[in-house]
Amino acid sequence: MFFHTQISRMAELDEPDLVLEDGRVYRNPTEVKMSQIILPCHANHRKELSVGQLLKWMDSTACLSAERHAGCPCVTASVDDIHFEHTISVGQVVNIKAKVNRAFNSSMEVGIVVSCEDLYSNCHWKVCQAFATFVARRTGKDKVQLKPLVPYTHREKVEYSVAAERRRMRLLHVEIMKDLLSDTTFQASLSEGACEGQDEEEEVPTEKTRVESVELALPTHANHQVNTFGGQIMAWMENVATIAASRLCHAHPTLRTIDMFHFRGPSQVGDRVILKAIVNNTFKNSMEVGVCAEAYQGEEPLRHINSAFMTFEVLDEEDRPRPLPRIRPEPLDGKRRYQEAIARKKIRLDRKYIISCKHTEVPLSVPWDPSNQVYLSYNNVFALKMLAARNNWVLSSKKNNVSLYTLEENQSLCVRVESEVNVPAVRAFLLLSDLSRRPEWDKHYKQCKLIIPVDDDDLIYHVLAPSVSEGGKDQDFILLASRRPPCDAGDPYVLAIRSVTLPTHPPAEDMNRGEMLCAGFTIYAVSENVSKISYYNQTNPGVLPYIATDIAGLSSSFCSIFFSCSQYLMDNRVEPSFISTTPL
Ligand code: COA
Ligand code: ADP
Repeated sequence: MFFHTQISRMAELDEPDLVLEDGRVYRNPTEVKMSQIILPCHANHRKELSVGQLLKWMDSTACLSAERHAGCPCVTASVDDIHFEHTISVGQVVNIKAKVNRAFNSSMEVGIVVSCEDLYSNCHWKVCQAFATFVARRTGKDKVQLKPLVPYTHREKVEYSVAAERRRMRLLHVEIMKDLLSDTTFQASLSEGACEGQDEEEEVPTEKTRVESVELALPTHANHQVNTFGGQIMAWMENVATIAASRLCHAHPTLRTIDMFHFRGPSQVGDRVILKAIVNNTFKNSMEVGVCAEAYQGEEPLRHINSAFMTFEVLDEEDRPRPLPRIRPEPLDGKRRYQEAIARKKIRLDRKYIISCKHTEVPLSVPWDPSNQVYLSYNNVFALKMLAARNNWVLSSKKNNVSLYTLEENQSLCVRVESEVNVPAVRAFLLLSDLSRRPEWDKHYKQCKLIIPVDDDDLIYHVLAPSVSEGGKDQDFILLASRRPPCDAGDPYVLAIRSVTLPTHPPAEDMNRGEMLCAGFTIYAVSENVSKISYYNQTNPGVLPYIATDIAGLSSSFCSIFFSCSQYLMDNRVEPSFISTTPL
């Protein structure tokens, strides 16, 4: 099979091999590789690599990488969304590469890249990347404190930085899903008209798709600490989900997506693992199958190990998805899952769209709503971190210790203004992250009103700005400001700003609605009382022709705003009354 996971930004981050002083090529010390030739025993009836087998290989490669860093046994805590787009056939080779992107306290993010190799044509495809979290565990001991991972290459530094943002998103995921699925207004808004025009005769009762199966966890399924491998559980889950999907369509379904999931509790050798699956809902061309894995030993009560939601399609001879029959859910749980599957589909598509796009491909203003807030916030911070991490900034000018860098590509001009300021980093962060005070130092902000305090880290503002042309209409912006304190020493404080749209604040007739693609600050603590402040702004592609003729004017305008910003920080560096009242 070929795979493309949600975040396909590896190409953007690709960098050539790094040759060390002694002539050796640098290799990440946590990197682990696995290559497997696909034999008939790994394949399904279509002679394609079974997803379950691939998940087992991905999990063991990633686990060995995590253990290399941790120096002790590790277990799979969670796996982010995986999107499967192609298949890998018998006779082809699958190459899996895993490395630790970042270690937190006891957990690590492991990046996994899967590629396929055709031995006859000698073609290689980089086909997927996935992110899994592993937790280090020593039996009978307290929580493990991992040593920090020190990124070495440029790409490792970028992955290290954005891993913190991905971690935030996955830890919030469970709560967000729980809140949305119990929000009846959100559910009602999605299911309006969902059952219209159905012929009850053609509906398939979901009961027909129900599967229950048991597996005995044996030593071959477990590590040397007798913990069942997460990949093995995932493979068993995929097996029952495929049976449920096949019972609905009476054909061989193709797995497209597995939603982000979390292993709630461990399983050991000797466990009887009960796997249950049923089709929760069908859409035009796809169906959601839910799978639940529970375990028990002897007389013990069942332990919940994992629940996952998988999306299948059924392809015709030309590999196009076939329309699927509607289902008739069972009363109570069936109906609830039917509704929840509609909500999950919307959230899943939002997540895929917002997260997988390069930030330059996401439309300038994305509609904000509670169901996509965490992904938009991720996208906002990710875009700024990626911009900051570019290694092709060109120094355009340096005056009074203020450096101005530019970066021109993809029809957009990015500007970075940077200087050291005699203000403690935490103070500068508090002052700058309160956007409602920005009119005090930025002449482009006539007024700035907080309209939605989304959560502690994300706020939505309405900004009024003067007209860009003489006698023209004033401009307004709806801006999402996402603020992040450092995850650990060496990380910067980040304030990322981008446009969003809000149905409650449509463009007004007497204003031009302006849009901001990516802007914000990174603040590094240089010493206790000095911080290095960088301001970033990426102009919209449409604006480039106008400003290209006056880069010098633009530069001096940015420098003068930055100067007033530094002045504002200096003036307020010690006055406690200026601390933002909004908690961080
Ligand atoms: N995704 C990613 N990481 C998660 C997570 C999730 N959904 N939930 C918790 N974690 C991380 C925490 O952030 C924490 O990381 P840190 O120490 O670096 O800060 C770490 O897991 C431990 O969290 P803690 O609060 O101490 O424990 P917990 O009670 O939340 O347990 C697991 C988390 C993963 C250890 C626990 O659920 C578990 O044992 N699951 C089974 C794992 C397993 O055996 N897998 C193999 C297949 S069965
Ligand atoms: P929920 O029931 O809230 O969806 P669970 O974690 O209990 O969450 O189950 C996850 C999924 O596993 C369900 O959505 C359903 O598709 C499937 N499932 C759960 N219980 C059963 C069962 N008894 N038989 C078949 N499938 C089940």
